[in-house]
Amino acid sequence: MKLNLSKKLEKALNEQVRMETESAYIYNGMRLFFKEKGLPGATSWMTHQAHEELKHAEDFIDMILDLDGHVVLGELKEPTTEYKSILDVFEAGLAHEKEISSSILELLDLALEEKNYAVENFLRTYVDEQVEEEDHFRGVIDMVKMAGDDPAALFKVDGILAKRD
Ligand code: FEO
Repeated sequence: MKLNLSKKLEKALNEQVRMETESAYIYNGMRLFFKEKGLPGATSWMTHQAHEELKHAEDFIDMILDLDGHVVLGELKEPTTEYKSILDVFEAGLAHEKEISSSILELLDLALEEKNYAVENFLRTYVDEQVEEEDHFRGVIDMVKMAGDDPAALFKVDGILAKRD
């Protein structure tokens, strides 16, 4: 049974570490947008999301190290803090999560191709994680759309977002 990493798989997993870390950076940009707009609930929701992404990056790092691989921390792009609206932020977040999901599925294809069952098992938990992540963003998008331009309704949505644990 193959438990170590091929160079190809190691490189692809390191790219995922970079992407997860970059996700935290992107969500920090969104958090700053909300903070400046005076939306404490949305700020807190996005802060939580940024922390989650760092945990994901840590998980991938641990998995590479557990399989005797070498971790390389890649370069991060500067994230924007400019958005048109609350809806724009969450739609951008969902689009980003879809990219992450595609990347995880490509990694899973590679692990299967290489018959690396340890990595396959690990990645399957991340397929489930991505279903949840996309669902979280979709749920918020639905609420924000329902609130529309009504400040009272948006205030309520912000209160709901503050309750994320
Ligand atoms: Fe770690 Fe939100 O993907």
